[in-house]
Amino acid sequence: MTPAPIAVALDAPDLETAARWASLVTPHVSTVKVGLELYLRYGPDVIASVRGASGVQVFLDLKLHDIPNTVAGATKAVARLKPAFLTVHAGGGAAMIRAAVEAAPQTRIAAVTVLTSLSETDLAVIGLQGPPQDAVRRLAALAVGAGAQALVCSPMEVAAVRAEVGEGITLITPGVRPAGAASQDQARVATPERALADGADLLVIGRPITGSADPGASAAAIAAALRRTSLSRP
Ligand code: C5P
Repeated sequence: MTPAPIAVALDAPDLETAARWASLVTPHVSTVKVGLELYLRYGPDVIASVRGASGVQVFLDLKLHDIPNTVAGATKAVARLKPAFLTVHAGGGAAMIRAAVEAAPQTRIAAVTVLTSLSETDLAVIGLQGPPQDAVRRLAALAVGAGAQALVCSPMEVAAVRAEVGEGITLITPGVRPAGAASQDQARVATPERALADGADLLVIGRPITGSADPGASAAAIAAALRRTSLSRP
């Protein structure tokens, strides 16, 4: 069975836990996501640990943001780990995004548009006036124009971003919660089914899976629900 288009966020306190979660979920999902905390604590070894013997894709969420030359060097340094996705901040500008794209031809560079933790007021303070969705669309167009093959955006914005960039760009959405699950600190959430229907290609899901008593069973249940949705669609 094809694994579901889910990236499980391995936000674990230690490497052993991250590797255990990865081995439990990899039969059911396409991707596991390694974030800044785990990577900074354990370094490149974390990638081999979570990949294990499986062919699961690794999403390296380092959100790089620096001058183009430095981002090119940092991207080259991690490209040898062959992550399927590497994140950079779209706000770093076109030259920086292009530098990352050119430094890692086998990795899809995913540009983070606007962090979902920023409100309209926060954005105005840093000089981005207007509705957050306008900034998201602008940054999405800029990133794709610079060669980014993927974008990270909230499920609330995914339909607008899809309309802006068209098909062929992988849209990745965090803030996904199965119906009935606790939203925790995510303010703007959508169900996995809704996010896919709005145009998302890869759903980032963490605690609803990793915080459950049986992460493997939780991943399998969400994957099965998604499969039912796609089968029922004309
Ligand atoms: O546990 P939860 O499903 O909330 O995990 C979501 C993951 O997605 C976390 O690793 C979080 O850092 C990440 N993320 C997010 N919102 C963004 C970008 C990334 O929640 N805008």
